[in-house]
Amino acid sequence: MSALPEATGRTVALTIDGRDVAVPEGATLLSACRAAEIATPTLCFLETLTPVNTCRVCVVEVEGSRALVPACSRPAESGMVVSTDSERVRHSRKMVLEFLASSVDMSLAGAEIHAWMETYGADPGRYGATAETVAQPPKVQDELYVRDYSKCILCYKCVQACGVEAQNTFAIAVAGRGFDARISTEYDVTLPDSACVYCGNCIGVCPTGALIFKTEFDMRREGTWDESRQSVTRTVCAYCGVGCNLDLHVQDNRIVKVTSPLDHDVTSGHLCIKGRFGWRHVQAGLDEPAGPVPAPDTGPGSSIESPPDRRPAS
Ligand code: SF4
Ligand code: SF4
Ligand code: FES
Repeated sequence: MSALPEATGRTVALTIDGRDVAVPEGATLLSACRAAEIATPTLCFLETLTPVNTCRVCVVEVEGSRALVPACSRPAESGMVVSTDSERVRHSRKMVLEFLASSVDMSLAGAEIHAWMETYGADPGRYGATAETVAQPPKVQDELYVRDYSKCILCYKCVQACGVEAQNTFAIAVAGRGFDARISTEYDVTLPDSACVYCGNCIGVCPTGALIFKTEFDMRREGTWDESRQSVTRTVCAYCGVGCNLDLHVQDNRIVKVTSPLDHDVTSGHLCIKGRFGWRHVQAGLDEPAGPVPAPDTGPGSSIESPPDRRPAS
């Protein structure tokens, strides 16, 4: 859950881009910008997670401050004079977006991120290099979800969602340092061998499509994924009494993935394996042949790894 400060009932007054803005004490500069309807790019920020300041795309200029400050985590203070559209801010945001897009496949990042790249004139090909740590094939290990770290911008959101901010499972973390930093299970074991409980909360927060439902992954490969033909229907998960809200994404009368609204006051968009993945029975016989799920292809050339043999020795 977000660790933003508790409301104190007091307000602070500041100036943003020449406008007078008043926000509750403890609010961040990002909240103040939003209150003033000043659009601000974010990548590693999510309302339901504690800000970690890893991407720095949200930076703003504060009068009297030597360095640009991240709007997503810096609390607003009375009397601050903030610029969000100065040459320095625009240059910095452009550089952040260019560095990321030059080294990582951002093709599945949200439309908003692409709009920001256009706004700041970020050229994805400018540096023409792919980071070593992300140059790896997608990890396809089962029929639930795929990890394609060639699209990972190391925003840490998945690590937060898997850890203390939601799931408390700690199946994934940042491994390595510097250019070798990457998201990994412990000792890079396969998901079934890790502590992962397949809640999919990491997928729910990933901004770049690095973590993706297997259904979406397959449909994109086949060229059949078409969001313009998809509708989203909100319902309540029927598996237990918690009452999690589910958003069913439906294309051609088939559920293709399930998300959960961030503003749900019980779950904050997080689900368990049943809500996230337990919907295939709804369309049994429609999109799959009857019978058991076929065994994954683990033959030569496949990126699927064989599960460990856990049978007791005879
Ligand atoms: S599916 Fe859940 S438990 Fe598994 S890595 Fe993602 S957040 Fe962690
Ligand atoms: S996998 Fe996604 S959520 Fe996790 S660090 Fe990479 S981009 Fe962020
Ligand atoms: S969104 Fe503020 S540092 Fe990433």
